Amino acid sequence: MNQLIFSLVGTIMAKDPSRVLIFDTTLRDGEQSPGASLNLEEKLAIAQQLARLNVDVIEAGFPFSSSGDFNAVHRIADTIGTEDGPVICGLARAAEKDIKTCAEAVAPAIHRRIHTFIATSDIHLKHKLRKQRSDVLKIVNDMVAYARSFVDDVEFSCEDAGRSDPDFMYEVIQTAIEAGATTINVPDTVGYTTPAEFGDLISGINLNVPNIDKAIISVHGHNDLGLAVANFLEAIKNGARQLECTINGIGERAGNASLEELVMAMHVRRSYFNPFLGRTADSTQPLTNICTKEIYKTSRLVSNLTGMTVQPNKAIVGANAFAHESGIHQDGVLKNRLTYEIIDARTIGLADNRISLGKLSGRSAVRARLEELGYTLNQEDLNDAFSRFKELADRKREITDRDLEAIISEQVQQP
Ligand code: KIV
Ligand code: ZN
Repeated sequence: MNQLIFSLVGTIMAKDPSRVLIFDTTLRDGEQSPGASLNLEEKLAIAQQLARLNVDVIEAGFPFSSSGDFNAVHRIADTIGTEDGPVICGLARAAEKDIKTCAEAVAPAIHRRIHTFIATSDIHLKHKLRKQRSDVLKIVNDMVAYARSFVDDVEFSCEDAGRSDPDFMYEVIQTAIEAGATTINVPDTVGYTTPAEFGDLISGINLNVPNIDKAIISVHGHNDLGLAVANFLEAIKNGARQLECTINGIGERAGNASLEELVMAMHVRRSYFNPFLGRTADSTQPLTNICTKEIYKTSRLVSNLTGMTVQPNKAIVGANAFAHESGIHQDGVLKNRLTYEIIDARTIGLADNRISLGKLSGRSAVRARLEELGYTLNQEDLNDAFSRFKELADRKREITDRDLEAIISEQVQQP
């Protein structure tokens, strides 16, 4: 079945059918976090880093929502949307004006996608859309077909799928695929479902939508109950092959499923997930296309540019994620790391033995650490940062990451 799905979806065709696709929505749903707005240059810098991370799809924005979003999606499509680059996607409500604007914004990308959506839950139909189910079915048919008149790669989402009547949702999905959708996204918009329920939702779609083999099943979820990542892992076991997520889990309210947690869960527990992807448990093939060594740098860049700090105990990328505090743990790790470590910090791009920075450190050590923290400086800015570093190192024995970040933010404030 996977082979058939992948032969139908253009860009993704060339990729390994037993991998899980990573759709990054940091620049769209992530940017919907309160206070996280980014300017065009910042969005471009994040998109460039996402391309280095090797995500399969970048959802670059919601072009109809503002001219700023339109320009960002267009510029990212133009700059990053190369032959070897990721699919560049824009979001559009299921309405002609949104879809047309989105098509114009993604047009420069070689691999481009329109992602259109409408709610399918009764609560949204009654109070938000004020429409009947029959109206929604007609809109889905017409708007997916309209999106297909611009691009070959159309994703359709049943907004609030987690609270929708499954039988109605099956009908909507079947209609979307008949009209040309190549990816069907199942969002738990309000983060309401539990892992077992979300897994059942995906297996129900696989069992009850007759043409589902013509599309990839994608999942999207919010973290209102802290369950988004767990829900996605159940979804993979039940046939989902695209995960929509954000760096550091940023997004509306409690955020979206976090990219780094999903990717590292599949990486660390590969033998557990392999059989669900049709492989033998001991297969060593990666489950995603992500270059894990870019994870830490991407996390820092997104945190620095959005101003959204990462909680210290955040899985994978938090400052304490690899720190051992208790004497018993330190003793165990010194004897054998495997006693308390399930991830080698180098896998996500952290230095194994942190070089401690101080007054004897040279420019290249400072530059390397800054790059690890997500700051790539030009020569002039590096010289400036280095002289501030030296001044501080004369007064302070050890320069921490926090000190380096303070140096950079001072520099930004005093041009
Ligand atoms: O949470 C949601 O339902 C969304 C859709 C637009 C996919 O972000
Ligand atoms: Zn969302």
